[in-house]
Amino acid sequence: MKILSVEGGRPLEGSIRVQGSKNSVLPIMAASLLAGGETVIRNCPDLSDVDVSVRILRHLGCAVRREGGAIAVDPRGMDRSDIPDCLMREMRSSVVFMGAILARTGFARLSYPGGCELGPRPIDLHLSALRELGAEIDETGGRIICRAARLKGGMVRLATPSVGATENAMLAASRAEGETLIFNPAREPEIADLQDFLRKLGTDVSGAGGPVISVRGGGPTGGAEHTVIPDRIVAATWLCAACSAGGRVELTGCIPEHFESVTEAVEALGAEVKRGADSVSVRVKRPRRAIRPVSTAPYPGFPTDAQPILMAALLRAQGTTQFTETIFENRYRHVSELRRLGAEISVDGTQAVLRGVKELRGETLTAPDLRGGAAMVVAGLTARGETRVVDAGHIARGYESFDDRLCALGADVWIEHKGKGTYEDASQPDQPAAFQQARRV
Ligand code: EPZ
Repeated sequence: MKILSVEGGRPLEGSIRVQGSKNSVLPIMAASLLAGGETVIRNCPDLSDVDVSVRILRHLGCAVRREGGAIAVDPRGMDRSDIPDCLMREMRSSVVFMGAILARTGFARLSYPGGCELGPRPIDLHLSALRELGAEIDETGGRIICRAARLKGGMVRLATPSVGATENAMLAASRAEGETLIFNPAREPEIADLQDFLRKLGTDVSGAGGPVISVRGGGPTGGAEHTVIPDRIVAATWLCAACSAGGRVELTGCIPEHFESVTEAVEALGAEVKRGADSVSVRVKRPRRAIRPVSTAPYPGFPTDAQPILMAALLRAQGTTQFTETIFENRYRHVSELRRLGAEISVDGTQAVLRGVKELRGETLTAPDLRGGAAMVVAGLTARGETRVVDAGHIARGYESFDDRLCALGADVWIEHKGKGTYEDASQPDQPAAFQQARRV
């Protein structure tokens, strides 16, 4: 088990380059199965979810090489169509391999995906999109078996603009015969990034970011090279961290318009913000103030992934801020933990009301999921004394060297590994069960 500790009270100061996007690289790695040769994906973040995708690709028979932030995938040796349960369980994105495997081999066998527990996360829209393209799908005993001798273009109408279902539909459609139209697709920047990658593989696809995506399928053409977009949720996290700790932080290598809704919130709470072409700087002096109600929404609305983190940045702001969570039923699991620091937050269904307090005191908290864990660290930056975040392995699913980067900005953060118990330990089987390492930078 990994424990991340932070001693609050130090302002952040410095510049930080935003890592590549987790939610872009994962579907793009799945899409690399559709290439006719080697693809090279650059700006890949070093995350445990990326490691899981590499293991899935290797299991399927692909040759995968990693060099720094580049991952080269050659799918020509692919000789399997299944994903073992243990890999399916490790992350939600394992499910986007379904459309790609089916498109490549006409058959896919997998099980239900894991990932952050944010309430029910059905995959009915993924399955109905694939059925629309001609797949026969059998769901029995937790197994999903998809068959399609030939996929055919069709009309996919998504009741909700699901990110994963849009990706699965795009992947399957890119090897289907004829045109597929995806109505009400997700408009997140990660969808446009997948579109760019599929175009490089020779797929005729357009419309990402708008109300309808059109995909004309074709056979695999050679390989491709692609650079993944910067991670807008990580960028949002650094802005919120600066707001919590105070100080001055410059983000570089980012696309400011991708997280403008978060930047506006940060500005409203009292940060001075300067936007550049590919940078954003914030300067935060106390006191911070409460902001207008925040309601999460599909892109370009306020991202659900940034909701816990903005909440953490507002814990000591003067006044009351109201949150409405519209995407996931159970995305306030961080609240009970933040209260243990002295935060005043009440939750009623989809609504949360936060009343700023004068002081927070460090405590031992447990990360419930990836963004909830990051929120606890952001809160710890402004708490008096030490905040320990247990199960911090969740954070490594989405943030590259989170502790080192915070330290480079002047925070006092360190990591301990204890015993066993998270997915991270599975990849480090030789860790002794007792206290393994404590590092203080
Ligand atoms: C993606 O998850 C992201 N994950 C999530 O990032 C993000 O929170 C979410 O989109 C929303 O922005 C990846 O891209 C890997 P959805 P996804 O399908 O695709 C309902 C993070 O912290 N729905 O857009 O799983 C669903 O229940 C995370 O990085 C169905 O009803 O999300 C939810 O209410 C975690 N049926 C809504 O749609 C379906 O078949 C949006 O979910 C699929 C989804």
